[in-house]
Amino acid sequence: MLAIIGGSGLAQLPVLDVTHRQVVRTPYGDPSCALTFGKLSGQNVVFIARHGYGHSLAPHEINYRANLWALHNQGAKGVIAIGTVGGIRPDMAPGRLVVPHDIIDYSSGRKHTFFEGPERPVVHAEFTSPYDADLRRRLREAIQRSGISGVHDGVYACTQGPRLESAAEVLKLERDGADIVGMTGMPEAALARELELPYAHLCLVSNWAAGKGHQRKVEFDPAVAAKSVQDMMNTLQSLFSN
Ligand code: HPA
Repeated sequence: MLAIIGGSGLAQLPVLDVTHRQVVRTPYGDPSCALTFGKLSGQNVVFIARHGYGHSLAPHEINYRANLWALHNQGAKGVIAIGTVGGIRPDMAPGRLVVPHDIIDYSSGRKHTFFEGPERPVVHAEFTSPYDADLRRRLREAIQRSGISGVHDGVYACTQGPRLESAAEVLKLERDGADIVGMTGMPEAALARELELPYAHLCLVSNWAAGKGHQRKVEFDPAVAAKSVQDMMNTLQSLFSN
């Protein structure tokens, strides 16, 4: 069974045939919301809305440890994480789907490891390639099968939020080698690695990052968002039917 973590604007998965919901508690506190179990293209899936059902949790308020622990504990064997991002690289325009291959973490103050406290050993999780190669390949192939163009690798920068970045901050991210910017990719990816859960990120570019795309301020186009959500649903259906 694969898990899907839904991001902003994706508190529910219309393509999921829901069988039941389950409230789960963990040693790390409560997950963002109840887990939803169901079938997607005939395959078992467990889904959680990262920001809660009413989008009530800001990126720094999400209990990433409880979410990952709950999914793992319910038998998930891998995670498809969905998130919206700002586009930095010129070909990462709003509307694109991106399956990043690497990550830079600029977040701070989040509970970011399971390995802490007197009872726990010190473990340094291997993180050279944060995302699972096989899940990434399956996502790329599903995007291609769905006839969606312009799939790219990319480096994901995770900022702290909840505010958006300044133009100078985005230039710094670009100099660092980042192609897209979001707020929730970490510590999620690292916690999945600590649990040895294969994890890949399907990112929807919702806007040009601050100062990019010749815009004076960050703008979100609802029509572009609706189209990329549809592209993402098609991708998931194709992924699970293969
Ligand atoms: N910056 C950070 N996070 C985001 C953005 C952005 O421009 N767009 C969507 N999530």
